[in-house]
Amino acid sequence: MNLLPRWRVGLVSVLQPLSGDTLMADLASLEARARTELDAANDETALRAWNTKYFGKSGEMVAALRDIGSVPKDQRPAYGQQANRIKETLTTAYETALQKEKERALERSLTSEAHDVTLPGRQPARGRLHVATRIMREICAVFADLGFQIYRSREVEDDLTNFELLNMPPHHPARDMWDTFYTKTPGVILRTHTSPGQIHVMRELCPEPVRVILPGMCYRYEAITTRSEIMFQQVEGLAIGDSITMADLKGTIVAFARRMFGDKREVRIRSSYFPFTEPSIEVDMDCIVCAGKGWCLCKGTGWLEVMGAGMVHPIVLKNGGYDPEKFSGFAFGMGPQRITMLRYGMNDIREFWKNDLRFLRQF
Ligand code: FA5
Repeated sequence: MNLLPRWRVGLVSVLQPLSGDTLMADLASLEARARTELDAANDETALRAWNTKYFGKSGEMVAALRDIGSVPKDQRPAYGQQANRIKETLTTAYETALQKEKERALERSLTSEAHDVTLPGRQPARGRLHVATRIMREICAVFADLGFQIYRSREVEDDLTNFELLNMPPHHPARDMWDTFYTKTPGVILRTHTSPGQIHVMRELCPEPVRVILPGMCYRYEAITTRSEIMFQQVEGLAIGDSITMADLKGTIVAFARRMFGDKREVRIRSSYFPFTEPSIEVDMDCIVCAGKGWCLCKGTGWLEVMGAGMVHPIVLKNGGYDPEKFSGFAFGMGPQRITMLRYGMNDIREFWKNDLRFLRQF
């Protein structure tokens, strides 16, 4: 029977008889070879390859230990002792070498990828409020000072509240002024103005007096121009009490204009028509972009329409639950985008929702 250990096959002829000295010499040469190769392994990959070669599943050291059974009986104790010593020594040497290599790698990365803490820091990009949000907050603050509370109303409305309860029955010609976006659900639309919020407030607060503003987004199916968008903000105002008059409306508008634009801004009030107010007015402010001298968003007139307003129509008061014989009220609806354009001399409303940072960073 051939008693040559498997890890020696290839080194020695299978026919060669084994002697204790030869086996011990082979173990010694395996140790010396493993040592030399371990010393030569100069990175983690080489070290791990070395470990596989000697201590992997079919590693040479593993094979030398496994085949102890095939060593002649009288030589086994000495062989076993020697093999175990070599295994321990090599394992310790490998672990020490691996640990040292890891430390060297860390040192290398600390020096080559070192951070220069003396370099000036990188400025983090700071966000800011969108100009539309800022102006909206400013408008709300002015009205809060005038005693108005904020009421949030829905953007998705029904035809009944957006039109009918505001005195615009189906086929009323005034509906043409506010063409809307329809949803697939019949009667459910995107609100064309904040005025339907009047109905919600009145029905919630009746018979208490009301003094609220309703800020929010509106949607209209109309041509986009430099002064008109298909989505834009409005701020609705509503005051109801037992003796509210047109003078209160005018006073509120003028007080608001002075707070927003300073004492020098001119306000022009024209008579107008809205189905839900009687009488109705429209409010213009003087255009600071061209002061009436040339073509701009005011169309060269020198005035820009910023709000519609009027005394709440008796039918609307009734639809909100108030007795028009006892209560009266005023309402207005303004466009913050137009107000912002006046404030900063902007000439194109389309910039608001483009999200072009070059535009937004100016505010
Ligand atoms: C209305 O929407 C009425 N609901 C306002 C109202 C409320 C009248 C209460 C009476 C009582 P109008 O369509 O004129 O009215 O719009 C009011 C304001 O919204 C305008 O003055 C303008 O500043 C702004 N606005 C209207 N359409 C647009 C648009 N397409 N893009 C930007 N702003 C707009």
